[in-house]
Amino acid sequence: MAQPIIIDTDPGQDDAVALLLALASADELNILGITTVAGNVPLDLTTRNALMMVELADRPSVAVYQGCDRPMVRPLVTAEFVHGKTGIDGAELPNPAIEPAATHAVEFIVDAARATPGITLCTLGPLTNIGTALSRAPEIADGIEEIVLMGGGFFEGGNTTPAAEFNIYDDPQAADIVFRSGIRLVMMPLDVTHQALTSDARVEAFHHLGNRAGAATAGMLEFYERYDRERYGTVGAPLHDPTVIAYLLEPGLFGGRECYVEIETTSELTMGMTVVDWWKLTPNEPNCLVINQLDDDGFYALLTERIGRLP
Ligand code: RIB
Ligand code: CA
Repeated sequence: MAQPIIIDTDPGQDDAVALLLALASADELNILGITTVAGNVPLDLTTRNALMMVELADRPSVAVYQGCDRPMVRPLVTAEFVHGKTGIDGAELPNPAIEPAATHAVEFIVDAARATPGITLCTLGPLTNIGTALSRAPEIADGIEEIVLMGGGFFEGGNTTPAAEFNIYDDPQAADIVFRSGIRLVMMPLDVTHQALTSDARVEAFHHLGNRAGAATAGMLEFYERYDRERYGTVGAPLHDPTVIAYLLEPGLFGGRECYVEIETTSELTMGMTVVDWWKLTPNEPNCLVINQLDDDGFYALLTERIGRLP
């Protein structure tokens, strides 16, 4: 039985690859809908980009629902300097012919959680849509099986400030609502995503697939990795968001520890920090499985095989 999921996303090249991985995995994942949020680029572009991935995967039955265009409290911070002005520079694809659904993403999330107990939320961007949905209808927490989220960092610190990773930094108040919700959480922080680096050989493997999805993936990653290569001198860039989908498909690729995690929402110095009680120094019960181990070769083998299934 395919797992019912909603993917909440701010494409972004790494989000786009995560969407292709999920769209290529219909036997395991029943995508009830894709919800978009402002993050890497403004909402109109994250929505356009999600629609383009649905078309590229030839999965027009998967609806895209447009969500919040700014964080719950703080101003929107975007990341065109990483992702380019479109958010998926390098994809070289036509504008989408399909439109988003008329229903707002938050309304869709609330309705879907009520109608489909046991749903999994896969979040790839700022948690604004999820935090807003939980504020509006706290009781939906009972129907959500788990939230698998890309966000945060601990031993690896931050990538937006020294203390905070982008998805959490962009909307710390929404993240705080999610981490206090009592819903089972699986967190993919920088500690694990920094083990999922692209490389020339890994990008070449997508080129060699010989399909449109492989070519678009290679083009997006070639653009995306230039920032990290220049900024950090690394061989490639961390492929953050596909770790969320890969965890659902092959959890054995990952390892981690149940920890108590709290979000900094007061100090500007550490705003958006995921404070992970890794050594159980507080009496707080764990609220999150914090992932920090990855079989990166297995991860890329899964990605390449699945994207090879697409047109
Ligand atoms: O910090 C990495 C995260 O921020 C990824 O989800 C990337 O797409 C951006 O949203
Ligand atoms: Ca993202």
